[in-house]
Amino acid sequence: AITPVLLAGGSGTRLWPLSRRSYPKQFVPLTGALSLFQHTARRLSGQAVEAGRWLAFAKPLVLTNSDFRFIVTEQLAEMGIDPGAILIEPEGRNTAPAILAAALHLLRADPDAVMLVAPSDHVVPDTAAFHAAIARGLEAVRAGDLVTFGITPTHPETAYGYLELSQPARDGTPVSLQRFVEKPDAARAAAMLAQGNYLWNAGIFLVSAKALIAAFETYAPDLLAPVGAALDGAQTDLGFLRLASGPWAQAPDISIDYAVMEKARNLSVVPFAEAWSDLGGWDAVWRAGDPDAQGTVTSGTATAIDCTGSLLRSDSEHLELVGIGLDNIMVVAMNDAVLVADMSRAQDVRKAVEALQARG
Ligand code: GDD
Ligand code: MG
Repeated sequence: AITPVLLAGGSGTRLWPLSRRSYPKQFVPLTGALSLFQHTARRLSGQAVEAGRWLAFAKPLVLTNSDFRFIVTEQLAEMGIDPGAILIEPEGRNTAPAILAAALHLLRADPDAVMLVAPSDHVVPDTAAFHAAIARGLEAVRAGDLVTFGITPTHPETAYGYLELSQPARDGTPVSLQRFVEKPDAARAAAMLAQGNYLWNAGIFLVSAKALIAAFETYAPDLLAPVGAALDGAQTDLGFLRLASGPWAQAPDISIDYAVMEKARNLSVVPFAEAWSDLGGWDAVWRAGDPDAQGTVTSGTATAIDCTGSLLRSDSEHLELVGIGLDNIMVVAMNDAVLVADMSRAQDVRKAVEALQARG
């Protein structure tokens, strides 16, 4: 069985003001009754036959921090999903230490453990197609590869990783990777998009714990000692496994993409042609929304008059939001905060959070 490793420790600052430090976007019901975290946990549970292959998921391992631990247990309980383990990170050190801790933890119980590392804030509507992609990726995992999932790019996004294919992708079978480029600048992103042999990294990884740890040993060996010690010193507390804060603080703050994926040579990609969104910013929410004829998306108590390419979202029942003549603008209104920004500045919304924090 594959163990889902759910990353639920991010603070989602780019979706402020909907996403708050105390209640980040993965736990908010953004697109219906369930939160993105709940959708992710459900998508990666149970068993299925896909693409002629048997697929079974073990209980998930959740990586989060102290602040969110009860939200995690509550939201899983609502779904009737029993977590295999909930690892508490004493502080956010980014995805590389978190994922390495998960791999070391799983390897102790099972030397052949296979894990599916998944952010808990993505939208993947077609579960069957996603299961089929995972099933295809298992072949490459057995051959010792680290498997990524590739999304067909639609615009020169700079917030994603790019996967250069060694040969054209055919009918969803894994292709070995030439290169992994994390978050290129705008010019490089445009060049890769034009070249046509690149896919976006979905940020979801299917790996054996053993192969991933071997990649850390080769490319990011400085993480092994602090993360290993944090796990050795971990304490069980109300069913949570709390990593030891002293060694954990020594782990470099780096993402898995920079620490391992950009450097590893044994990467494969399974193309995933169905809808996917990482809702990584309000522009992604706008793209995933249902636009009117002028390309404007409204939701909640919002009204758009002659607006093009804009997002108008009001999550407050106390105020009416009306936009007139807006062009490529995002407006997100809550009871206690309103964001107004140019659509091209979606990634800069985290600066709003930083500015407000600095003000205290
Ligand atoms: N547990 C835990 N601890 N989770 C974390 C931490 C941490 O310290 N930091 C981030 N996460 C979670 C986030 O909440 C998110 O679900 C996931 O890990 C990925 O982190 P992001 O910060 O959202 O990464 P990104 O979106 O900038 O880039 C990644 O995803 C893109 C696709 O969405 C990369 O993998 C890119 O290459 C990829 O294209
Ligand atoms: Mg993201």
